[in-house]
Amino acid sequence: MSDEANRPSVGRTFRSAGDVQVFDGAAPLIRAAADIVVRCALEATRTTGIFRVALAGGSTPNPLYGLLATDAYARRIDWARVEVFWGDERCVPPDDPASNYRSAHDLLLGRVPIVKAHVHRIPGEREPAAAAAAYERELRKTFATPAGPPRTEPGARFDLVLLGLGADGHTASLFPSSAAVRESERWVIAHHLAAASMWRITLTPVVLNAAAEVLFLAAGREKASVVRRVLEGPHQPDVLPAQAIAPRAGRLRWLVDADAAAELTPPSARGA
Ligand code: 6PG
Repeated sequence: MSDEANRPSVGRTFRSAGDVQVFDGAAPLIRAAADIVVRCALEATRTTGIFRVALAGGSTPNPLYGLLATDAYARRIDWARVEVFWGDERCVPPDDPASNYRSAHDLLLGRVPIVKAHVHRIPGEREPAAAAAAYERELRKTFATPAGPPRTEPGARFDLVLLGLGADGHTASLFPSSAAVRESERWVIAHHLAAASMWRITLTPVVLNAAAEVLFLAAGREKASVVRRVLEGPHQPDVLPAQAIAPRAGRLRWLVDADAAAELTPPSARGA
């Protein structure tokens, strides 16, 4: 976890389990996120020659994907040296409107010169358990870790993981009371989400917490309560799975708009 100290930043920064930056609106938040992606890509390609990022699903990151596809940002990334993965996927075909792959493809990956073989889609159309096992093999091959826990050396882990936050505290497809939250060995798990009556495939905290940088994006007033509970409430990852995300040797950052930060304790009230 990154240090607790406040950092000078755009907007207000709160002391938290990670580095939380608050933005006056979704647009500056998305621009800041895009700048972080560009920075991480540059650093990774300088260090290892390749930038490996796990994309988030849901709707919050969609404007980020669209912005990264614009010339202003796309030309700042060496797409030949980018490998893209997903933090989770719905068990649907890749052309299904619910597919996280489809959103990222339509908004970004189909618009930039990324190498097709570097787009590592979670095969949501396959039988869920087999798809999860296949994806774990793909990750282990990518990170040259055929067995055992993920390593945190450069090149052996995600350089950046993008995550969203559900109003119930879930992230990726780590949902409250899900066994995946406490998984200690597997990197990828399939499970049935009764509430949505759909199967999901998710990366587990085992591999997510090996990342060099994890970036949560949260926007909208409907997220204010869960943002406060996750960042300032008691540590209860079974109830709030986003709290299970704490990089072992990496940086945790939250980019939150003012609406989603509305219930956070202001710095002045914390004697900051
Ligand atoms: C998914 C995401 C999920 C998402 C949250 C927030 O597949 O839906 O992985 O974890 O990030 O549900 O979704 P919104 O960004 O749409 O609020």
